[in-house]
Amino acid sequence: MMIDLKDKVAIVTGSSSGIGKAIAVQLAEYGARVVINSAKSEASGREVAASIPNSKYFRADISSKDECQNLIDFALEEFGRLDILVNNAGITKLISHSDIEKADVDVWKEIFEVNVFGTWQMCSMAYKHLEKSDDGIIINISSIASLRPTGSSIPYAVSKAAINHMTKLLAKTLGPKVRVNAVAPGLIQTPWTQDWDIAHEIVAQQAPLKRSGMPEDVADAVIGVIISKYVTGEVVLADGGWSLNS
Ligand SMILES: NC(=O)c1ccc[n+]([C@@H]2O[C@H](COP(=O)([O-])OP(=O)(O)OC[C@H]3O[C@@H](n4cnc5c(N)ncnc54)[C@H](OP(=O)(O)O)[C@@H]3O)[C@@H](O)[C@H]2O)c1
Repeated sequence: MMIDLKDKVAIVTGSSSGIGKAIAVQLAEYGARVVINSAKSEASGREVAASIPNSKYFRADISSKDECQNLIDFALEEFGRLDILVNNAGITKLISHSDIEKADVDVWKEIFEVNVFGTWQMCSMAYKHLEKSDDGIIINISSIASLRPTGSSIPYAVSKAAINHMTKLLAKTLGPKVRVNAVAPGLIQTPWTQDWDIAHEIVAQQAPLKRSGMPEDVADAVIGVIISKYVTGEVVLADGGWSLNS
């Protein structure tokens, strides 16, 4: 199938590096105009935007309601419409699952502010604009930790499980005008996991595809969901089959 996104406008939250950057690059390669975003790394966000045709950078922290609104307004002002929202921005804290005391409720609040409330804010502020598209779509970047008893901490894993359920509930509510799906990456080689050498080795041994993933592998899954026009409410696992053997 020919993929042509040339009339489409996308926002990719958290696209100054890693998975979000790879998603933005691929969307642009297929012709979309893309808003690059991050909360802190403004310089690298601007560099990413400068390297991608038809893209613009906007700094916004998705845990802030006002900044979410500013981000959406920016996309509309610059490009006049919104067709694709990729909620990729996320944070975690590395806490062993057995260290219950360290997973204090303040950690839960900090992670949920971005991963769950930020994602909800973006969805709830963008859907009216996505409804005007001929194929409006939201893609939430979840995690293998949402589906398996694994992940960098229990609060993080639960935040991603919440995103999966939010995805299904929104798909039911926003259809037929807007499709809502999640892509759940396994272990991916990004700045986030650059020091996780042992984890990368374990995945390379255990996963049927014998390697941890690249950001582009996740971007491929996102594009797959975008072009699959009869798919909504799904959580697509992109983990090299790791969960089959772990
Ligand atoms: N890498 C993996 O193995 C893996 C596996 C499963 C799921 N994921 C998910 O994939 C997503 C991207 O992760 P990554 O590995 O690509 O990490 P990354 O390279 O660290 O990128 C995270 C991006 O999110 C941005 N961000 C963080 N908080 C934000 C906020 N409040 N508002 C706006 N942007 C924010 C970061 O920029 P600033 O910090 O400058 O704001 C950065 O652009 C996350 O949702 C993560 O949970 C990753």
